[in-house]
Amino acid sequence: MKKILDLITEKMESAFAGCGYDASYAKVVLSNRPDLCEYQCNGAMAAAKAYKKKPIDIAGQVVEQLKEQCRQAEGQHQTPVFLDEDMSAVMPGFINLKVNPQFVADYMNEMEKAPKLGLEETGHGETVIVDYGGANVAKPLHVGHLRSAVIGECIRRLGNFLGYHMIGDVHLGDWGLQMGLIIEELRDRKPELVYFDETYTGEYPEEPPFTISELEDIYPAASGKAKADEAFKERAQTATFQLQNGCAPYRAIWKHIMSVSLADLKKNYGNLDVHFDLWKGESDAQPYIPGLIQDLQDKGLAYESQGALVVDIAQPGDSKELPPCIVRKSDGAALYATSDLGTIIEREKDFAPVKYIYITDKRQELHFTQVFRVAKKAGYVKPETEMIHIGFGTMNGRDGKPFKTRDGGVMRLENLIADINEAVYGRIMENRTVSEDEARTTAQIVGLAALKYGDLSNQASKDYVFDLDRFISFEGNTGPYILYTIVRIKSILSRYKEQGGKEEEGTILSPSCDSEKTLMLYLARYNEVVTAAFEETAPHKLCQYIFELSNAFNSFYHDNRILAEEDKARQASWIRLITLTKSVLETCIQTLGFQSPERM
Ligand code: ARG
Repeated sequence: MKKILDLITEKMESAFAGCGYDASYAKVVLSNRPDLCEYQCNGAMAAAKAYKKKPIDIAGQVVEQLKEQCRQAEGQHQTPVFLDEDMSAVMPGFINLKVNPQFVADYMNEMEKAPKLGLEETGHGETVIVDYGGANVAKPLHVGHLRSAVIGECIRRLGNFLGYHMIGDVHLGDWGLQMGLIIEELRDRKPELVYFDETYTGEYPEEPPFTISELEDIYPAASGKAKADEAFKERAQTATFQLQNGCAPYRAIWKHIMSVSLADLKKNYGNLDVHFDLWKGESDAQPYIPGLIQDLQDKGLAYESQGALVVDIAQPGDSKELPPCIVRKSDGAALYATSDLGTIIEREKDFAPVKYIYITDKRQELHFTQVFRVAKKAGYVKPETEMIHIGFGTMNGRDGKPFKTRDGGVMRLENLIADINEAVYGRIMENRTVSEDEARTTAQIVGLAALKYGDLSNQASKDYVFDLDRFISFEGNTGPYILYTIVRIKSILSRYKEQGGKEEEGTILSPSCDSEKTLMLYLARYNEVVTAAFEETAPHKLCQYIFELSNAFNSFYHDNRILAEEDKARQASWIRLITLTKSVLETCIQTLGFQSPERM
């Protein structure tokens, strides 16, 4: 279905053209004065300069032309987009518009029947890689990983919904120093293990030598030790180096670390309703690295600088000086950037995506600028391939500092989720309308919505304050408020059915009051908002939209007594309208990554 804004713009374009003005002046936007009009066109102001006329004269002429067009449409038994009295030219040259109520109602009826509620798919199966999550194996997931997972999941869902072939890759940090630290700590704790017996030549055991809770204890202990004990740190570095160069017993331990951690990570991401198509990591890039280094040298792009191998990435027009990308350290070790380049080579070979989207903390901005530029310079990706880094801000506590536990430690994701669920549970039990069991299940659904919406409703690049009380509130711009609105609609619909009403009866009639028309106009914007949220990688726009849509629904609900309405055609129309509202809201929260409960 065409976007309502495009339909309006088309009318405006033909009116401008009909008066002999260039159609490019006919841009229509949502009104910033909703008290005066719904949409507006400011093009007469710009046209005035080009045509050396007064803006108000142009606006007046265009409005006359629009009126003429609407009369013609009526003559042909079409519903005109505007009514005569709702088009006006006002000083100094604005064109103010209100949409014909019947036209909006027709649009609602069409949306209701169209696949995906009339969404115009912008994708046609093009492959897009989304790199998010980015957990580091064997280290506990902490709130810092939350944003990447939540934003990435939303982008992946949005893209798939719009017809792209999205491939979500968790891209685990599975090749770093943490592995050497764990190996050495394990040696200190259990020296009798075969992995540490240099004379051992047999197969290594299938069973891991630790459980997840032991592993959770081993890593922080080792990392603490490395800070205090230089010799231990060196051992860990050597072990890491040996692992990376194929040392068999260490490789076997690495596999155990991977399998134990992966099971845990899958559980944790599952609890967040975050999913990946690929569970790859930095280790998968390693086979590509020697060829990559060689190639960069052969192409004359990489050169030695202070013992390291680097590639210049500065370009004319850069606003600040950008340092070269280091692809090999002076001790011969590969780096984060090298492994990201290796991963790109693999992804090109496997998927040749049209677009890459990486979602990490914004402090990694320079890293991605370097990686993208090297990849393009060396021709690993086509010049037209889009490479986007979404750098997000920090999640802060109420004190404005990075979010911590009460005793100042790093808050683990699991605990954070448990805290939220507990708080939501308390809120639900205050009302005492549901059983404890139901309240627990509902609290999980609502808690996840509170967490995800609290994050996604902020522009990604900004820092935000994690305020538990605000996030779980049933009022204001929160996840629970959106769910509350959906649940309210569900409850009206089920009471309507209890009264013997049928949802599929009637048709959506022209709105009977202002709040009903406002609701319709919000529903009509769904198509353009979903598209923009993906194209601009801006989930917060979708949140803002469903917040305003929920407000519009709640005012409409306040103004009308749906279940008591005696005019049955009107009642059936309202039932259809609120069903459509529910569908739009549910579709949007689905792409944001959460669901609604039956009651709350
Ligand atoms: N593991 C990294 C971290 O914790 C994030 C990985 C992001 N993705 C990437 N392709 N570099 O910072």
